Amino acid sequence: MQKVSLKKIYGLKKRHIGITSITAYDASFAKLFDDLGFDIVLIGDSLGEVIKGEKDTHNVSLRDIIYHAKSVSNAVNKSYIIADLPKESCSSNRKIISDSIALFENTKIDMIKIEFNAKYINAIKKLRGKKIPICLHLGLRPQFISRKSEFRIYGKSQKEKSEIINNAVLAENLGAKIILVECVCATVVKELKTLLKIPIIGIGSGDSCDGQIIVSYDLLGISFNKLPKFIKRDYTCKSILEKNIKDYIKHVKKLPTKC
Ligand code: KIV
Repeated sequence: MQKVSLKKIYGLKKRHIGITSITAYDASFAKLFDDLGFDIVLIGDSLGEVIKGEKDTHNVSLRDIIYHAKSVSNAVNKSYIIADLPKESCSSNRKIISDSIALFENTKIDMIKIEFNAKYINAIKKLRGKKIPICLHLGLRPQFISRKSEFRIYGKSQKEKSEIINNAVLAENLGAKIILVECVCATVVKELKTLLKIPIIGIGSGDSCDGQIIVSYDLLGISFNKLPKFIKRDYTCKSILEKNIKDYIKHVKKLPTKC
C-alpha cells in the first residue's frame, strides 16, 4: 500500500469513508497502527499524560515531541503523520514559526497540529507561506485548560457555537488543511460540515465528523489518567492484556527447578 497523502484523506471525506486516526509515541505501536491501516498517526502532546505521567499536556517540550516524532516516523511507512506543536512553542508568533520549522525539518512528519488561538494568526499565515501543512485544533484545547470544570462539551451556548464556527471558517481561510474538533457539540459539527471544505476529525464530538481520532492508550484502556467518558468501553482491551500478562507471571513463578 502507498503512503497516505492529503489528497487521499480529502478523497475519503468526499466518499463519506471515515478517516481513522490514532496517537502514537513510539516505534512499536506506530508500526502496529501503520500495519493495521490507520490513515493518520498523531504524535500528540497527550504524551505528557500517558508517557510522562503528568496531570496535563502543559510541560511537554518541543524536544519531547521531536524525540517521539522521530521514533514514530522510523516505523511508519503508510500513515499520514501529524505532530502537535507543544504549549511551550506557542509563547509568541516568532516562536511558533521557528519551532514549527524545527519540528518539520528535524523529523519526517507531514503536518503540524496547533491548538487554535486568534493571537496565532500571523504565525499561521507565515507557516502557510513556508508550505508547512497545518491542522488547527478547536473546541476543548487542553493547552489552555487548567481546571477540571473546563473538561466539558463546547458549543452548547449560542456564544460558544458562533465562536467555534467563526474560528473554523477563519482556520480554513488561513489555509488549515484539516480541522480537529475536541468535545464539540454534535449539532455544531453538523453545521460546520455544511460550511467547510476541509476534513473535520473529531474526538468526543459525535459521529458526523469526517474522521475520528483516539488516544491509543485510552483505546487500550491503560491510560495513566482517568479514561474520558466518550471512550466506548467495548473497544478497550485492558482485560485481555491483563489476562496474558498474568498468565506470563504465573508461568515464570513456576519455572525455577529445585536443584
Ligand atoms: O494530544 C493529543 O493526543 C490530541 C488528541 C486530541 C488526540 O491532541
